[in-house]
Amino acid sequence: MDKNIDIDLSSIFVIFGGTGDLTKRKLIPAIFSLMYEERLPENFTIVAIGRREKTNQQYRDEMYESAKQFCRFSLNDKLWNKFSKRIFYKNFDFTSDNKGYRNLDLFLEKMDTKYLTGGKRLYYLAVAPEFFEGIIRNLKNNDMLKKSTGWQRIMVEKPFGSSLETARTLNYNISKLIHEEDIFRIDHYLGKEMIQNILAIRFGNSLFEPLWNANYIDNIQITSNELLGVENRGGYYENAGILKDMLQNHLLQMLTMIAMEPPVDLSPESIRDEKVKVLRSLRPFTQESFNEDIVRGQYGEGTSNDVEMVGYRQEVNVSPSSNTDTFIAIKTYIDNFRFGGVPIYIRAGKRMDTKSTEIVIQFKKLPGINYYKEFDQIGHNLLVLKIQPEEGFFFRINAKKPGNEFKMEKVELDYCQSCKYVNDSPEAYERLILEASRNNTSLFTRWDELEYSWKFIESIEKGIENSNNALNYPNYKAGTAGPLAAIDLIEKDGRQWWNTASD
Ligand code: BG6
Repeated sequence: MDKNIDIDLSSIFVIFGGTGDLTKRKLIPAIFSLMYEERLPENFTIVAIGRREKTNQQYRDEMYESAKQFCRFSLNDKLWNKFSKRIFYKNFDFTSDNKGYRNLDLFLEKMDTKYLTGGKRLYYLAVAPEFFEGIIRNLKNNDMLKKSTGWQRIMVEKPFGSSLETARTLNYNISKLIHEEDIFRIDHYLGKEMIQNILAIRFGNSLFEPLWNANYIDNIQITSNELLGVENRGGYYENAGILKDMLQNHLLQMLTMIAMEPPVDLSPESIRDEKVKVLRSLRPFTQESFNEDIVRGQYGEGTSNDVEMVGYRQEVNVSPSSNTDTFIAIKTYIDNFRFGGVPIYIRAGKRMDTKSTEIVIQFKKLPGINYYKEFDQIGHNLLVLKIQPEEGFFFRINAKKPGNEFKMEKVELDYCQSCKYVNDSPEAYERLILEASRNNTSLFTRWDELEYSWKFIESIEKGIENSNNALNYPNYKAGTAGPLAAIDLIEKDGRQWWNTASD
């Protein structure tokens, strides 16, 4: 057997929502990349389910077009032909057609016999959350979750619920149908290379961990800026907004990785136990702190790379008087021994001037007693984790400027991982599919993590309800750095946002 082949992947990948955007942009390109890297065993099959009628060949042709556009490797026709023979399309109404499930089960059993997949099935729910429970119930009722051989797992996309209450109800109902350990709730940020690297950088270097606390850290900043607007997802985004689309999940998950205590070991449960403690320690907002420490925004029309962009209110399926937020900046605290008193600044926005996600750890300056006048201009030590688009990190230190004068300068020790390993970083979805097949739950969110993150979000939502009348939207132009108030949010504390991607 080839040394790359990943035996755990010898299974059937069943996609509900086979004709949707996620399948086209992420799932099929990710699985093709796994084949490109010679990880896919011969006994691997994809069965996509959609409501539209089409033949296997029509579906394969459509997937070819999207893989060509979205795959990180250029498509090799010979390999694609081999890959596409393993893709099958089934159409039925997965919301109501019980007979469709029975037929699907029979088909999957036939596939098991033909491709020796031994009953191993990864059901991927790439559908809106209101369909999660119904699909799982139908799978259960048709004995598709407890086959006599192999394993059957469910992967669900975010959002899991739309509030604390709906998430609780959904979880309660689902937990009666499937065990927690068989449900893999996706947060694709956990699959990103540099998010995984946080564990290595924090716990693999004697340099950082002793300083990783309120004694040495001045503040933490997490920024996730996107160039894109809402594209064709206006209907979904109107209900989610940036709060539920980014903050409740991706941004809080990044924070947990940065702030958690060293886990006992690197097993999934040990990591998740520590992450949940961070979420439990997040200070909820009061009306007063909401007014002081949160800035919200919505983009209006503007230009990005010389292209005219419409405002959010003009996007398809968006109300012309919408008050949905497309930008948010918050200052929050983790009330525990390690980080008590350290401000955490988090911001995210759509239609910004750059695409960049990064985490900045700003260390405190040395105490003044030993100061030399030559050191007047020294800056803070910064550790910047560059999550995307460039992957890597840099560490800013102060050093002497070469020359006869004793002058200081700020020097960056800059490591560009994506320059060193060109095309080598797997896409988040490749890693997530692989890890779910390996039964590694650490890259997926456990229910209690979600429950606490929803609680935190709920405290923000209360503030939003009380203040929507005062909004003057839009309040930033597409293609800019967001509302000016977000700059005041940090500057009034005598600090600044670090924008290392654009500085
Ligand atoms: C998704 C959000 O979860 O993450 C999108 O629904 C957002 O609105 C996307 O654009 C950002 O992901 P990435 O990997 O491009 O940073």
